[in-house]
Amino acid sequence: MKEKDTVHVFAPATSANFICGYDILGVALNEPGDEVRLKRVDKPGVTITKISGDNGLLPLDPDKNTVGACVQMILQHLKRHDIGIEIELYKKMPIGSGLGSSAASTIAGLFAINRLLGEPLTKQELLPFALKGEELACGHGHADNVAPSLLGGITLIRSYHPLEVINLPVPKELCCSIIFPHVEVPTRAARQILRTKVELKNAVTQWGNIAGLVTGLFLEDYDLISRSLQDDLIEPTRSILIPEFDAMRQITKEFGALGFGISGSGPSVVAFTKGLEKAKEITNILQSFLKTKNIESNGYSSSINAHGATELP
Ligand code: HSE
Repeated sequence: MKEKDTVHVFAPATSANFICGYDILGVALNEPGDEVRLKRVDKPGVTITKISGDNGLLPLDPDKNTVGACVQMILQHLKRHDIGIEIELYKKMPIGSGLGSSAASTIAGLFAINRLLGEPLTKQELLPFALKGEELACGHGHADNVAPSLLGGITLIRSYHPLEVINLPVPKELCCSIIFPHVEVPTRAARQILRTKVELKNAVTQWGNIAGLVTGLFLEDYDLISRSLQDDLIEPTRSILIPEFDAMRQITKEFGALGFGISGSGPSVVAFTKGLEKAKEITNILQSFLKTKNIESNGYSSSINAHGATELP
């Protein structure tokens, strides 16, 4: 592929953990997502000229902004000190929501600079840089948002050391409903409250569910997927940060969701469904329910995004 002077890319939102796979499973969504435009300029160095949709929350300093930092990392890695890049970031999803907002920006930046330079690196080779971007954005380099945002589909982090990421099969009708209640739960804080030791009996339950879920994906067995979508390790601690969590779980059960839980580190919640119509129904019901409790929210209904980051015209 030839080098370009400009590039415009999209990187999708993601729902990390897939209920039971803390830090190892994640799914890519079709919407929302972030967009990045890069322009090659004469003056060497990286500048961020525009950020929209962030309510002024994100830094324009390229060393502190995950997009700027990732673009610089790739230029340094490839020893392309001669190049000047201007970055525009269009945030099209809420920040700190549990939708992999920082990961989508990180991936958009990495994917864009790689395309601009004629794809010297494979998607897999971009992943270690994405982990560094996540570390900068939320203090810990987990891969379960960046991997699905980059690669698409459902991803499994088989190992962090060395990093090994596997794409799992996506059952055709698997969809999800995501609700972002307008309360603040930063990833950093949601990780700090977790216990670092687990009871062996809870770990055994969790291993069974993760293995059951992966098997269900391979067999396209929605009942097995449904039985496996349970989190006995993380949810009991984190769910107290999310208003009306138990009531929302009950509603999604009554309306036939396959499973319900926290999306990433929250405060968004996710209900997996068979079919997009069911996801839309649940999104509407949960948003109306939260409204009766005076809680504003954003709602998304999506099938699973098969492609990950893509170039836009
Ligand atoms: N696996 C991470 C967590 C995802 O649950 O903290 C953060 O989006």
